[in-house]
Amino acid sequence: MMKFQGSDILSVSQFDRESVSRILQVAQAMIPYANRQKRCYVLEGAILNNLFFEPSTRTRISFGTAFQLLGGFVHETVGQESSSLSKGESLFDTAKVISGYSDVITMRHPEMHSVSDFAKGSTVPVINGGDGANEHPTQALLDLFTIRAEMSRFGKGIDNLNIVLMGDLKHGRTVHSLSRLLSLYKNVHVTLLAPQPLQMPQYIVDVLTDAGHQVTITDTMAGNLKSDVVYQTRIQQERFSTLAEADKYRGHFSLNKTVYQQFCQDHTVIMHPLPRDSRPEANELDVDLNDNTNLAIFRQAQNGVLVRMALFALTLGVDEKLTQFEKPVTWFTNK
Ligand code: NCD
Repeated sequence: MMKFQGSDILSVSQFDRESVSRILQVAQAMIPYANRQKRCYVLEGAILNNLFFEPSTRTRISFGTAFQLLGGFVHETVGQESSSLSKGESLFDTAKVISGYSDVITMRHPEMHSVSDFAKGSTVPVINGGDGANEHPTQALLDLFTIRAEMSRFGKGIDNLNIVLMGDLKHGRTVHSLSRLLSLYKNVHVTLLAPQPLQMPQYIVDVLTDAGHQVTITDTMAGNLKSDVVYQTRIQQERFSTLAEADKYRGHFSLNKTVYQQFCQDHTVIMHPLPRDSRPEANELDVDLNDNTNLAIFRQAQNGVLVRMALFALTLGVDEKLTQFEKPVTWFTNK
């Protein structure tokens, strides 16, 4: 198992299966705190600098919420224009300075490998919140946590899973990281469903086939959605050279009630990292599926808090001390 304390979390390639199990186990232990049954203040006095140089709702806010749920203080920087990066300062210099103000740093940046470059200058652990089209390790962990939780309803696990990854597989960092994590498990059948120009990069396909998984590459929904999980993704318009280029692919694989009834199994779980593009020309995941009990997207987003809490506890070395730092919740919690 990897040594978590003091480590950066930059890529899912850092993990073996045992390390992933440990993260998911600590995430599970966070449920009472996230659900407000108890408070945990094990990180009281600790400071997170949450640096987001690309748009984000879930990842940024759930990093901050996760840290605060463990009693820590969060400082936010949003957008390059509000930092000295816009004055030509290097990521290395920025890291040298900000790590002096922090106990841990979370960061999203539009360029591939930028978060690793930043981590080289940092004296505290850095957690990657997405670096361009490269990786999104915390998303992949929360996706795996979700798959495990959803499959347990049907007495299944991650081994022997049948999953469809769908949409913009070329630019989508979530499906890159998730595929790498799935390579740690046994006998997974992965269907890669995308318009041919947006298919999964070959180096990720190789990771799956090297793991002995069965990989089906297709651009047709009919006959290919009878799986345990369909993981839909958004056309990553910000990674295309022009908007018109991205527009060509919108709406190709809209998943709606009719498609679900026609092509999926009645227990197929629907996932999406969100945000879903709900504009009519895209409508990649229709709201007409909102009352389908197998639509896991909001449970999935909620699981992001648990997994991020687990990573903070592990990298700061307090994962064994949670129960020693508990308090009751004194306020009204849920309507
Ligand atoms: C994803 C991302 O930023 O890669 N969003 C997220 O973090 N949940 C997916 C996306 O933007 O399409």
